[in-house]
Amino acid sequence: MEEKSRGAFSGSLGFVLAAAGSAVGLGNLWRFPYLAARNGGGLFLVIYIILALTFGFTMLTTEIAIGRKTKQSPLTAYSKLHSKFKFTGVLACLVPFIILPYYCAIGGWVLKYFVAFITGNGTTAAKDGYFTGFITSFSEPIILMLVFFAITAFIVFAGVDKGIETFSKVIMPALLILVIGISIYSLTLHSDATGEARTGLQGLAIYIIPNLDGLTIGKFFSVLMDAMGQLFFSLSVAMGIMIAYGSYVSDDANLQKSINQIEICDTGVAFFAGVMIIPAVCTFMGPEVMKETAGPGLMFVALPKVFQSMGFAGNIIGALFFAMVFFAALTSSVSIMEAVVSSFMDQFGWSRKGASFIEGACSLILGVIVCLGYNKLFFEITLPNGSAAQILDIMDYVSNNLFMPIVALAECILVGWILSPSVVEDEVTKSGCKFGRKTLYEIMVKFIAPILLFVLLLRAAGILTII
Ligand code: ALA
Repeated sequence: MEEKSRGAFSGSLGFVLAAAGSAVGLGNLWRFPYLAARNGGGLFLVIYIILALTFGFTMLTTEIAIGRKTKQSPLTAYSKLHSKFKFTGVLACLVPFIILPYYCAIGGWVLKYFVAFITGNGTTAAKDGYFTGFITSFSEPIILMLVFFAITAFIVFAGVDKGIETFSKVIMPALLILVIGISIYSLTLHSDATGEARTGLQGLAIYIIPNLDGLTIGKFFSVLMDAMGQLFFSLSVAMGIMIAYGSYVSDDANLQKSINQIEICDTGVAFFAGVMIIPAVCTFMGPEVMKETAGPGLMFVALPKVFQSMGFAGNIIGALFFAMVFFAALTSSVSIMEAVVSSFMDQFGWSRKGASFIEGACSLILGVIVCLGYNKLFFEITLPNGSAAQILDIMDYVSNNLFMPIVALAECILVGWILSPSVVEDEVTKSGCKFGRKTLYEIMVKFIAPILLFVLLLRAAGILTII
């Protein structure tokens, strides 16, 4: 009979690297820089860091502690703590189930650009219409999505220690070296491509100096909400992942130390993503382009043009950049799939093989639908936030803006009010470890986090429109 054991990380280092690998992903590398550029540079940075140390820390601690305490994955962990919270587990499992297909589709796009640059075709990849031509084509996005998914599934299939941990231990150091190396290179750039001599350091100033022009209370809250939404996705909280990973951590591991390291890694990479991207785009295309280009447009349209403007070095830097994004996306997609696979294993008693197969099949079908959303299944609707959306954007909106705040809010109510923050505190201090920010944790989980989450939810649902 096949082994149905849940698996475990071999030690704290493996856990920290796997969790940091999950946290560091597309959210850090493409979403963080444009949110920072759009939201007043340094102002967004300061708000984000404060939120990471308070709100992010609270959510991360809660989920890792719940995972380790219950030794269950998201689908079953909440109901083990309280029978009325089964719905939270269902939603926390549904979030990664929805995210995985479109994450793999975007992973396929990253692969496409990596291949373009490594084969010396960066100039073609930088042409107008290249990205649109690619995503609206029929077979190529599907094939590349399949390749990205196959690598993800292979690692999950190999299990917690032999697959996820081993892979993270190799990839994460390489990823961090690439992030720091490309950031340093970006700061040395200079160009007069925009008709005005510009340097990377000027771009850095735009990134880190707070721009308070026209700042109103409403705008401040809008930046705060953007930063909070970004934190969820970036730290991989409210998507079941940290509960699943927490359940694989041994009882004698120092949770507080690991949580600090995960936070530093995630926030550090998000910061350096801005150092890599903002000075480069500002130098070669001007600051306005950086502020106006969001999401896929930044990574797959603006940046290839930046690499092309670098001349000969552009193909190498472009290939290194997309290799880095690929690694980051892969460690995250592995964790997203693991959250669902572990849930199926715990809920239904399935083997890892069976759970991976079922989740893989569902994800592939949805992944193909996501890819066809730019082709045969194209349609567009307007989201409550006013933006036009295709299938991918709708899945992203529902999971990130609606389900994730609901999961987080339910979590705060459960731990802060129905049980007691001491449930988490006892778990963190188990085996004599310290809980340094305990008072802060209690205030956050009981009062501040639920209020912020409620406002975020109203805003996402289009009910609160003034901020
Ligand atoms: N935390 C992962 C990311 O930022 C999901 O992409």
